[in-house]
Amino acid sequence: MAHKILVLNGPNLNMLGIREPSVYGADSLQTIIRDLRAYAVERGVELRDYQSNSEGALVDAIHDAYGWAAGIVFNAGAYTHYSYALRDAIAAVKLPVVEVHLSNVHARDEFRHKSVIAPVCLGVCAGFGRWSYFAGLQALLWNLDNPK
Ligand code: DQA
Repeated sequence: MAHKILVLNGPNLNMLGIREPSVYGADSLQTIIRDLRAYAVERGVELRDYQSNSEGALVDAIHDAYGWAAGIVFNAGAYTHYSYALRDAIAAVKLPVVEVHLSNVHARDEFRHKSVIAPVCLGVCAGFGRWSYFAGLQALLWNLDNPK
């Protein structure tokens, strides 16, 4: 059966393309998702995507994914660095989650060096621009297809 994957995006990622293009690139989120979906089709994977600027809506999306998703590719934006609610939501559903970031958060402001969600994620892909999403999806599929 085809894997169903949630691609989840947090605050300000709806502004990609407009927002600090020298840091985040020129592509809109819609363009990235469109191309990621094309790749997923090639891999026989069903992608659903959701973006919200609200922490509670992201918590709800993670809870909802428990009902249908095999895993989540998640760019939590700035919530990455301080949202214990998102961390607890990931721990609650126990779905495999790959944390992704367009930018190399470790080469930026100090507050971005810490991720409070990383300890409950499978792993992290950061610094590859739009390709972080593709690398994250590939890593998630590899993990699903090769259980320990
Ligand atoms: C980001 C990095 C975060 O530090 C920042 O707050 C974002 C985007 C990234 O994709 O590089 O909103 O998650």
